[in-house]
Amino acid sequence: MKDQSNKLSSMTVGLHWLLALAMIGMLAFGLILEDMAKGETKSFLMWWHKGLGVAVLAFALWRLGWRLTQGFPVPMSKVPAWQEITAKITHWFLLLGTLFMPLSGIAMSLGKNRPIDVFGLFAIPAFGENEFLHEAGEVIHGLGGNLLIAAIILHVVGAVKHRIVDNDGTMERMAGREVPNRQTA
Ligand code: HEM
Ligand code: HEM
Repeated sequence: MKDQSNKLSSMTVGLHWLLALAMIGMLAFGLILEDMAKGETKSFLMWWHKGLGVAVLAFALWRLGWRLTQGFPVPMSKVPAWQEITAKITHWFLLLGTLFMPLSGIAMSLGKNRPIDVFGLFAIPAFGENEFLHEAGEVIHGLGGNLLIAAIILHVVGAVKHRIVDNDGTMERMAGREVPNRQTA
């Protein structure tokens, strides 16, 4: 089923919540890893972080493809232009974040000549040390992660505002429910 203005497809809803939980979990996971001392436990957790991160990338690519064919959900109510623009930029940044976080993590590892084992199913092979790739990955992973946390907070504040102030069905629609026709037309 395609997205409609009064009901989103189960693909949109399912991918949104899967990636939302995965991204929040992976951001927390990464921040914990960052503070851990080197050792066997950290290496083991790093193996999980990398494998899960590559899995997130697969779902994020799927979601990007789906969004490009469907467009973003249309707004449920008329809000000031600056809010609509902020929401649009935030949605794009969140969507791209699900791609640039795993990609920068992969760049960080490959740049250090470390292959990435994905749960023993397959491995992304390393091709030699590349300091630029490693450093670019590190900056994007670190800075991008922090910017993404800020964007998620803004996004959740916006969602709560739609629920409490506008009470316009935006949240209910992303919960998969059919809502009365939007008030923007
Ligand atoms: C748990 C907190 C979250 C809540 C309550 C929430 C809620 C929502 C709602 C209500 C919409 C629909 C907006 C509209 O109709 O205009 C939406 C869309 C969206 N959200 Fe979230 N969200 C959360 C977490 C996240 C996270 C962590 C990400 C990504 C890192 C994310 C990415 C997106 C994107 C890209 C859209 C646009 C539609 C889509 O591609 O699915 N959200 N969110
Ligand atoms: C959804 C995907 C991912 C998210 C949200 C995420 C998030 C994070 C965050 C917030 C950090 C801590 C900040 C930093 O040190 O840069 C981190 C660290 C790290 N991540 Fe990721 N990551 C993801 C995927 C990956 C992938 C796919 C790889 C590699 C294949 C990777 C490799 C690393 C490495 C090597 C560190 C550094 C740990 C340390 O400080 O020693 N990440 N990640």
